[in-house]
Amino acid sequence: MKPINVALIGLGTVGCGVYQTFHIHKERLEELAGSPICISTIVIEHPEKHNKLPPEVNVTTDLLAVANDPEIDVVFEAIVGKEPAFSFLKKCIAGKKHVITANKEMFAAHGKELKSLAESYGTKIGFEATTAGGIPIIQTIQQLLQANQVKSVQAILNGTSNFILTAMRVEGLTFAEALSNAQKWGYAEADPTNDVEGYDALYKLQILSDLIFREQPETGRVKRLGIRDITADKITKSQKSCERIKHVATLEYDSKGNLTGSVEPLSLEENHPLYAVEGVNNAIYLKTDILGDLTLTGPGAGAFPTASAMVEDFCTILKKEQHLTVLS
Ligand code: HSE
Repeated sequence: MKPINVALIGLGTVGCGVYQTFHIHKERLEELAGSPICISTIVIEHPEKHNKLPPEVNVTTDLLAVANDPEIDVVFEAIVGKEPAFSFLKKCIAGKKHVITANKEMFAAHGKELKSLAESYGTKIGFEATTAGGIPIIQTIQQLLQANQVKSVQAILNGTSNFILTAMRVEGLTFAEALSNAQKWGYAEADPTNDVEGYDALYKLQILSDLIFREQPETGRVKRLGIRDITADKITKSQKSCERIKHVATLEYDSKGNLTGSVEPLSLEENHPLYAVEGVNNAIYLKTDILGDLTLTGPGAGAFPTASAMVEDFCTILKKEQHLTVLS
């Protein structure tokens, strides 16, 4: 039986998580797929820095070779930054490959274009892992939007900043100590500026905005404040008022009908749905018109939660393919 050939782009925390997930759950995933699954190619920038690369896998630095390889069926992209990821994924889609990405910066900027490109080539694009780690928020929203309208979103979308704020409050750590722990656990980005200054949460908010409202807030209607200025004093003061400081991302329409977005530290009261979201967890609190309010909470960062979201996308894509085969 012809295997499903997979290429893995990037072997950082997320890439390793995907690789291990395919190994640990090989039997179950192959049963679901109805075929053997073969990670045939891994693309990494510096192969010399990895000392445990599997000998049976083609390890290369050449993205173009993957995009042009007709034997590769599905590409998992887990690198950072808009380029070269965007140009590469466009080529993969044009080469009729399904693509699954965890790259939020790239997808916030180019998601719309990639989705319509994939549609025109009849391929699928999975982006569950771009937003809120392992929480199946993309699939949940797609399901909800079949009948509901989402009115507003409030969310904790960055595991690192939530981990830092939690550790400062619970363990009395300084900002720097808590950030260093988040890096040790592999939650923070290579450059933690994106996490603690709110850029990472903003990319995720933009992706949610495209999905829910089919538009993103204009630049002038976006506010972004980081958490570097949150001191032990501010945390104590908030606690004395029975509140907790959280790095909250918000998406809503203002009274004039303009879509606005913000990422900022807010002191939340005890009865707020995001108040009890601790550590590396993320949460999304949606107000909808038929269902009412819904809050989803779960692991927002780390190797296996993010790998879980990517492998879920893989299974969804294969199920859709099998369904199309049955129908045709
Ligand atoms: N650095 C990100 C976070 C990883 O801490 O949330 C998951 O997107």
